[in-house]
Amino acid sequence: MTETMLAAVYHGPNDLRVERVPVPEIGPDEVLLRVLRANICGTDLRILHGGHRKFPPGTVRIPGHEVVGEVAAAGAAVTADYPAGRRLFVAPNMGRGDSRETISGNNNLDPEYEAFGITLDGAFAEYMRVPAAAIRQGNLMRVADGVDPAVAALVEPLACVWRGQNKVGVGAGDVVLVMGAGPIGVLHVMLARLRGAARVIVSEPAAGRREQALGLGADVAADPLNEDLAAVVRDASDGRGADVIITAAPVKALQEQALDLAAMGGRVNYFGGLAKDDPFIRFNSNTVHYKELIVTGTTACSTYDCLRAAEIVNSGRLDLSPLITGAFPLAEANAAFAAAADGKNLRVTLVPGKDL
Ligand SMILES: NC(=O)c1ccc[n+]([C@@H]2O[C@H](COP(=O)([O-])OP(=O)(O)OC[C@H]3O[C@@H](n4cnc5c(N)ncnc54)[C@H](O)[C@@H]3O)[C@@H](O)[C@H]2O)c1
Ligand SMILES: [Zn+2]
Repeated sequence: MTETMLAAVYHGPNDLRVERVPVPEIGPDEVLLRVLRANICGTDLRILHGGHRKFPPGTVRIPGHEVVGEVAAAGAAVTADYPAGRRLFVAPNMGRGDSRETISGNNNLDPEYEAFGITLDGAFAEYMRVPAAAIRQGNLMRVADGVDPAVAALVEPLACVWRGQNKVGVGAGDVVLVMGAGPIGVLHVMLARLRGAARVIVSEPAAGRREQALGLGADVAADPLNEDLAAVVRDASDGRGADVIITAAPVKALQEQALDLAAMGGRVNYFGGLAKDDPFIRFNSNTVHYKELIVTGTTACSTYDCLRAAEIVNSGRLDLSPLITGAFPLAEANAAFAAAADGKNLRVTLVPGKDL
């Protein structure tokens, strides 16, 4: 008789069903993880609402890509040391292996990427199968003793943020403006401080989010809809403008304004994408020209970004525990998704076992 497990399964837009499904079978070169914690992020909300291109009509799949589990079983041909019970973070993205993007260390850019919870069954379940490619490519990473598994699962968004800040070289002495203070904006604030930013300014219309960001390390928090953001940025930068600007909200107006708020030689990362049916913006290209701006973007994270983020979290130098603001049993996945979308929670985690 096939063993079954509880899982939250996507059946179509706004149709997430908690149901019993077979426990995945593993091949000789695969690992089975018992999921300890799986966090719900904005991508999962987009999946649930039917807005993810890897979930076309007819897709039935288990989402969940921010995950920490423990080894339940390893196939006989798995040569790496995966003793039962070892806690592992799983980097979500797998490149095809021989593509130019993957060879260059950017498996997140591989057009044929595979990813847990995106193209493969993911972590909103009691168990998750880890295919051989992920083991071979180093997607399984150790979690230091004493790091809470829900916090360790934040390695994935932190890796995206790490990648984003590397692209614009956030470093000692920079004045950094983070536009949007959701969970991603807050991670940008925390990492920018760790990297030595002289001042971190947050722009965020929601008062509660501004308070949260100030509590988690922002030096200044402004309301872009009711305050003169340019003046706030000037005041916080000796009149220069921001050395680095990171857009952490899918908002056109904010992308357009970012260029005006940048200092001479400023670096801008369009970190949040725009809705795919309306992605065009207007900007003064002379601003880019005369200020010699660097305007770039990043998307998701490579496995190497995850490795570096895991090292940061395991080091204990960055305490991400305040980001976990809610926890629900897997059986209440729909309530957990509602909480994740309430505009107050930063990260909601799903707990598959009975140990909530
Ligand atoms: N590049 C990547 O690797 C990557 C990874 C994860 C998320 N993202 C993107 O980052 C963005 C933020 O993610 P999140 O999960 O924190 O989203 P979120 O929706 O929880 O937070 C966005 C915040 O922006 C605020 N906002 C709205 N309008 C604003 C404005 N005009 N100025 C300033 N702030 C404004 C909202 O009030 C909200 O608090 C999203 O666009 C997401 O798609 C990118
Ligand atoms: Zn995510």
